[in-house]
Amino acid sequence: MKILLVDGTVFGEKTGAILRQVEQYIQEFNKELELEILYFADLQHQILDGSPLNDDMKKMIQKFEEADGYIIATPIYQASIPGVLKNALDMINPKAMRYKPVSMVANGGTYQHHLVVENQLRPILDYFRCLVTPNYVYTHASHFDKENNIIDDAILQRLRELARVFVQYCKLSEPLLKEQVDKD
Ligand SMILES: Cc1cc2nc3c(=O)[nH]c(=O)nc-3n(C[C@H](O)[C@H](O)[C@H](O)COP(=O)(O)O)c2cc1C
Repeated sequence: MKILLVDGTVFGEKTGAILRQVEQYIQEFNKELELEILYFADLQHQILDGSPLNDDMKKMIQKFEEADGYIIATPIYQASIPGVLKNALDMINPKAMRYKPVSMVANGGTYQHHLVVENQLRPILDYFRCLVTPNYVYTHASHFDKENNIIDDAILQRLRELARVFVQYCKLSEPLLKEQVDKD
């Protein structure tokens, strides 16, 4: 199975640091999963306004479509997910992520915005009919050192548990994807 780890930040390093930690934990639980990190900071983003899509956006859509599961990592911007992440999800066919496992991780400058994950990102993924794990992890600047290494043991444990549950959801999704009756 191909797992796409999406780093939804276009500025900093913390969201990527969480994602690389999750990548490591997933590998520990299942070495056979094929993992790829997609850094949004590397892409030439384009607003979905009806214009023809550029090569980066086409490549991004293809990666979403070909993946069998996702880890979505997002920073918090203005008490929400970044526009660039919402814009990217707007480009994905609503059936492309159906019954595929997803785990969410987020990072914010304030603790007060942890429910953005639960109240804003999860409903979008529910619309896609993803298998969203019950676990998600929200981190804060205080969980990192100056080099953006995660230094909080509780966060590391939660990320490890998230990876464990995600790997089980990957197994659960395989028969669901193969034996789908309703194709609409
Ligand atoms: C435009 C912008 C808006 C932000 N708004 C919020 C916010 O509303 N709530 C919050 O907790 N953090 C906010 N932050 C802080 C970011 O969430 C934080 O710096 C980011 O998660 C760091 O991750 P990164 O190093 O991967 O970019 C904002 C940052 C930027 C750049």
